[in-house]
Amino acid sequence: MRNDNEPRHVMPWRIEDIDLTRIDRQRAAANEDLMLLLAASSFIESGSDLYTSNLNVFFNGDPEVSEWLNREWEPEELQHGRALKTYIQYVWPEFDWDAAFQTFIEEYSTTCSFEEFEKTRALEMVARCVVETGTATLYRAIGECSDEPVLKEITANIRSDEVRHYKHFFRYFKKYNQIEGHGRLAVLGALMRRVIEIRNEDSEIALRHVYAGRYPDRVRDEAYSRELTARVNKLVRHNLSADMCVKMLLKPLNLPAKIRPGVHYPLAKITQHVFFR
Ligand SMILES: [Fe+2]
Ligand SMILES: [Fe+2]
Repeated sequence: MRNDNEPRHVMPWRIEDIDLTRIDRQRAAANEDLMLLLAASSFIESGSDLYTSNLNVFFNGDPEVSEWLNREWEPEELQHGRALKTYIQYVWPEFDWDAAFQTFIEEYSTTCSFEEFEKTRALEMVARCVVETGTATLYRAIGECSDEPVLKEITANIRSDEVRHYKHFFRYFKKYNQIEGHGRLAVLGALMRRVIEIRNEDSEIALRHVYAGRYPDRVRDEAYSRELTARVNKLVRHNLSADMCVKMLLKPLNLPAKIRPGVHYPLAKITQHVFFR
């Protein structure tokens, strides 16, 4: 829904400007679990446009939000998908990304519906903050567990986009909550609903389609794919910055400074286990 007369958004970074020939192929391919995770993330990011159209309908009549979603958010999210795809194709030339993505998107598109949305705009903004917190945390963890410089550079770029997205959604949350006036309990409810939801469906579907493309002969071996999923999640959990994650999650609750340290540690532990069990 872009208006072609508007000036184009200048992307903060471009995958085309990164010299992929610097990728240490062997070093990257040696970490199979990380590559599986990257492939799954590239699928979810590349499916971001499914959400934009739903979000556009949900925020219809608010040009500030719709314009930002269309001009900045969606192109940046799609570039995350493209950047990771490019990286994967360089390291795994034998992996048919397009074919695996096709089967993924057929299943994934049936899960993106209005039922997933919160009941009000302010609370949906809280849910969006949780999603951006999850991705910022994930890319930080990926950057930390990788020793391949090009991947570190790409994930650092993606992470700073996700943090900026979070800041936008947080600002929109405050704008709508001035009208809707939700208390902490309602905000906490939206936070928890999304934290629980973020863990399961999306990454599970994506990983399943990555495995099917990567190990077609083990496609029906459920025990094997459970084992792979557990390994991939463990990898993230070990490198997760629960601290950053919890700080971002707590912000919409606007807790008084004196009780913040008290809830920080238990929440960090819970988050670590709920996000990447
Ligand atoms: Fe993203
Ligand atoms: Fe994002």
